[in-house]
Amino acid sequence: MKKPRVWITRRIPQRGLDLISPYAEIDLWEDELPPSYDVILEKVRGIEGLLCLLTDRIDDRVLDAAGSSLRVISQFAVGYDNIDISAATARKIPVGNTPGVLTDATADFTWALLMAAARRVIEGDRFVRSGGWKTWGPTFLLGADIARSTLGIIGFGRIGQAVARRARGFEMRVLYFDPQRHLALEQELGASYAPLEDVLQEADFISIHTPLTPETYHLISDAQFALMKSGAILINTARGSIVDPQALYRALSTHRIAAAALDVTEPEPIPPDSPLLSLENLLITPHIASASFHSRTRMAEMAAENLLAGLRGEQLPNCVNPEVYQRTQE
Ligand code: GLV
Repeated sequence: MKKPRVWITRRIPQRGLDLISPYAEIDLWEDELPPSYDVILEKVRGIEGLLCLLTDRIDDRVLDAAGSSLRVISQFAVGYDNIDISAATARKIPVGNTPGVLTDATADFTWALLMAAARRVIEGDRFVRSGGWKTWGPTFLLGADIARSTLGIIGFGRIGQAVARRARGFEMRVLYFDPQRHLALEQELGASYAPLEDVLQEADFISIHTPLTPETYHLISDAQFALMKSGAILINTARGSIVDPQALYRALSTHRIAAAALDVTEPEPIPPDSPLLSLENLLITPHIASASFHSRTRMAEMAAENLLAGLRGEQLPNCVNPEVYQRTQE
């Protein structure tokens, strides 16, 4: 029997490809850079399965170009704001993602950024390499205290909770804001619910862990920076567009807040001439919070499992639009 055709929009860890190849004919985009939108429109024609990345825009037009053969979209990420889910649902195409397996890696990395920004690790490294290190100095490169400070978590899903769990070792006071209250977890994690404004006002460290949706787009802008402490440090490992980049520039360049550490930016990648890159009190990494060996291998496995289930007409193990399985009322 002829194998179904799938397009994989970038080389994923080999384990994922090995799981897929016995059951599907793989067309693999081998470039280091993502396919352009025009290439996506061309490549999806007539495929039965699509395994895509957060760098690929999958919208109504792409789904039209794919046509009725497309049976499953499997996203190699937990976030899926690059995919028009309602357009997929309208066509009864299930969309899979990879939750859970990158929670620890992302929470660990959030802490790496928090600590590096608080204690000015990158500035210290740059200083040594530039030949500036002449002596030990009593007031040199002083940073923020972490132990017993207040951590504000915006978005208290799996990753936000894992970040809170790690804060216990630092005896921090943890406040969280989430549209939903997580009463059962509050005691276990030593976290208290607070309205967003209170979290912004009281936290020494503010860490973002919400998905990007129309409600969270530019959730952090001038009005929110105005509420923060002057010593506050903002960490974003979620999605760049949750923070308004121009407001962030104003907040950092005027020292309205002390520093920020971003693993995600708007746009991505950040243009090399972005004014943000001229700031000493900003630390940026290239969207690598989930980039641990174990986590990326598990993501490849999960993305492969979702893809194969969709090709077989079975329910995806991790489906973001399970409505596609509901029978329509006669
Ligand atoms: C990474 O950003 C992801 O959503 O998995």
